[in-house]
Amino acid sequence: MSLLEDLKWRYATKKMNGAKVPQEKLDYILEAARLAPSSSGLQQYKIIVISDKALLEKIKGIAYSQSQITDCSHLLVWVAWDGYSDTRISTVFNAMMDERGLPHNTMDSYKSLILNLYETKGKEWQAHHAAKQSYISFAMAIAAAAEQKVDATPMEGFVPEQLDELLKLKGTGYKSTVILPLGYREEANDWLVNMKKVRTPKEAFITEMTIADAAETDGTPVTLNLEDIITK
Ligand SMILES: Cc1cc2nc3c(=O)[nH]c(=O)nc-3n(C[C@H](O)[C@H](O)[C@H](O)COP(=O)(O)O)c2cc1C
Repeated sequence: MSLLEDLKWRYATKKMNGAKVPQEKLDYILEAARLAPSSSGLQQYKIIVISDKALLEKIKGIAYSQSQITDCSHLLVWVAWDGYSDTRISTVFNAMMDERGLPHNTMDSYKSLILNLYETKGKEWQAHHAAKQSYISFAMAIAAAAEQKVDATPMEGFVPEQLDELLKLKGTGYKSTVILPLGYREEANDWLVNMKKVRTPKEAFITEMTIADAAETDGTPVTLNLEDIITK
C-alpha cells in the first residue's frame, strides 16, 4: 500500500484490544522515529518504551483515564531536552564527527553560532524548541505504525509534570512531550473507527504564492551566509 493509503487507514484509535505488537514491528516503528530529522541533527529527545501493566495503570491516571494507555501493547513516551548547553551540543557534534572520521573542531563555527543564538532565547524557548523536534520523530512513528498496520493514538492528554515525576525524569535534563500507545483497534467498541476522516479541504489548506502576492518589504536582508559557516 502507498503511504497515502496507510495514512487514510490510520485513525486516533479510541479503543484498543490489548493484543501484543510483535517485536519486529515495534523495532521498525522505533527505527523510523530514530531516523527522523532534527534541528542541527541534535536529536534533542529520546523515547521511553513501556509495556509493564502496573506502570501503565499508573500512567492512565495521569492521562485522564484514557483506556488506550492500559489496552495498548506498548506506550512510547517522547522526552526532550529541557534546554541547550555547550556540553550537550558538543557531545552530539563530537559523536557525529567521530562517526564521520572528522576532527572535533570541524563544525566549531556553526556550533558557536547556534549556541550563541540559543543562549539569547532563554530556557523556556530552548525546551520548547527541543520539544518541537520530538514531534517530528513522533510523526514518523505514527506513519511507520500505519505502514505496519499497527494502531496508534497520538496523545497530549496527560499531565507532563506528573509523568516526569513518575518516570523519574526530574534532574535528568529531560521532560516528557508527547505519548503514543501502540496496539490494535477493538472495532466493536470504538466509536471513531467508521467515522469519515475530516481534513481541511485542499484549496483552503494549500496556497501557492508568487512575488506578486508577497509584501513589498524594505527590510535589510540577513547578511549571515550559512553555507560559508556550516562546515568551518
Ligand atoms: C499532538 C496530538 C495530541 C493528541 N492528543 C490526543 C489525546 O490525548 N487523546 C486522544 O484520544 N486523541 C488525541 N489526539 C488525536 C486527535 O484528536 C486526532 O489525531 C485528530 O482528531 C485527527 O483524527 P485522526 O487521527 O483519527 O485522523 C491527538 C493528536 C495529536 C496530533
